[in-house]
Amino acid sequence: MFYLPLFHRLHGSRVLVVGAGQTALRKLRWLRRAGARITVMAPEVHPDIRRMRDAGELSIDQRTFDPEVISSEFTLAISATDAPQVSERVFAAALKHKILVNCVDRTELCTVIFPAIIDRMPILVAVSSMGASPTLARTVRGWIEIRLPSALGKLAVLAERLRSQVKQQLPSVDARKAFWDRVFASSAADLAMGGQVDAAVERATSMLNEQSVAGTLVLVGAGPGDPDLITLRGLREIQSADVLLFDKLVNPALLDYARRDAELIDVGKPGPREAMDGETTAAQRRPSGTAMQAEVNRLIVAHAGMGKKVIRLKGGDPFIFGRGGEELQVAAEAGIETQVVPGITSGLGAACYAGIPLTHRKMSQSVRFLTGHRVEQSINLDWPELARTDQTLVVYMGLVALASICQRLLEAGRGQKTPVAVVENATFEHQRIIWGYLDDIPVRVANADVRGPSIIIVGEVVSLAEGWSGELPRE
Ligand SMILES: C[S@@+](CC[C@H](N)C(=O)[O-])C[C@H]1O[C@@H](n2cnc3c(N)ncnc32)[C@H](O)[C@@H]1O
Repeated sequence: MFYLPLFHRLHGSRVLVVGAGQTALRKLRWLRRAGARITVMAPEVHPDIRRMRDAGELSIDQRTFDPEVISSEFTLAISATDAPQVSERVFAAALKHKILVNCVDRTELCTVIFPAIIDRMPILVAVSSMGASPTLARTVRGWIEIRLPSALGKLAVLAERLRSQVKQQLPSVDARKAFWDRVFASSAADLAMGGQVDAAVERATSMLNEQSVAGTLVLVGAGPGDPDLITLRGLREIQSADVLLFDKLVNPALLDYARRDAELIDVGKPGPREAMDGETTAAQRRPSGTAMQAEVNRLIVAHAGMGKKVIRLKGGDPFIFGRGGEELQVAAEAGIETQVVPGITSGLGAACYAGIPLTHRKMSQSVRFLTGHRVEQSINLDWPELARTDQTLVVYMGLVALASICQRLLEAGRGQKTPVAVVENATFEHQRIIWGYLDDIPVRVANADVRGPSIIIVGEVVSLAEGWSGELPRE
């Protein structure tokens, strides 16, 4: 059976609810919200429903159902009882008087059905399985629910406040549609959803008045790999992109959320970036990622300069060894508005998915995030400080220089049997972990032929992981 979704204005209309238990209560809350004039008919009444009666929100006719009570004065009749015969009688009486009827859990006795509702007033999303499986409809509602920002309704408030002005200034329907698309993808939308509706109206008004509007750049942290680890805000930004610049650490599954007309640009092609990521063999290394970065900077300025919303999707967190700061600076110098959405950095993702607590009351009181890039070229790290035992080291881009890093930590006094984990492709389905000690991990990693992006975790806490099979560190 196909049911056409319509939103019904019930304000002031009479509704009869037969039954007064938990099921009835759920329906009553929505009916009350819709402003219906409600009569509840049942021999026994749930205390909350009595309280609603006492608050003047409905009236109660406390007796068993009598079909005579139904008349064409009612707009809708609902049967919310467990008694099958009662529902059948409610249905027959409602049909006789040509009023709408819903019998809970009896699709064949319904002319209208209740959807699962997502409430972001004034935006309401209704999900229905056409009566086939209300449980599935509720599950789907849960899926959609997490995608919709809780402050979505504020966008509707913004639209409402500008509606007549936009209509006046943009008589063409297409121009209005293009304008609203731009507003909903702009920082005006972010301001509105952040509760700053006045500032949002101001921003959208200036977009309306300006002939050409400078675009925006949003740096978005995509998380380490598992697409479920992106933030809700990050996902929303992807959905609103005119242009999406992504690098090779970003899981391609996230690109599916972009609009169909968005321009997707891969700025992580093999080449200079590999040297920057450090996860290749020494022979493959090239001088730096500067050339590719210059191209990324050029693309940001070119596209945002045309008034587009540019999303720069970066692996992990944009501000952790991600050159996010440089990109922001370039955009700011070009007069482009910028924002940053944090992401879960791969160091944290790797630790969690490997089961390694980075701190521990007895073993590690601090964590250091450092880059292993250029260690081979004698980068100036404070090795004695890094060799202290009461801390955990999380090393990015350290694969190429792994042997040097271990060597220097040993020379600076860190114990040979300090546990180490190398987490390759962390949080992806094909994540691999190589376990070892400071004195043998380079050989183990070489034997395992590790080539993907990897995080190196050094410290006693590694031995707390379930997968650790080495000796436990001495107390
Ligand atoms: C240029 S840095 C970018 C770091 C990123 N901004 C972050 O917050 O995770 C690249 C390095 O991050 C690490 N990395 C990124 N994604 C990873 C993953 N899924 N698994 C392991 N390491 C990863 C590797 O050490 C890689 O060489």
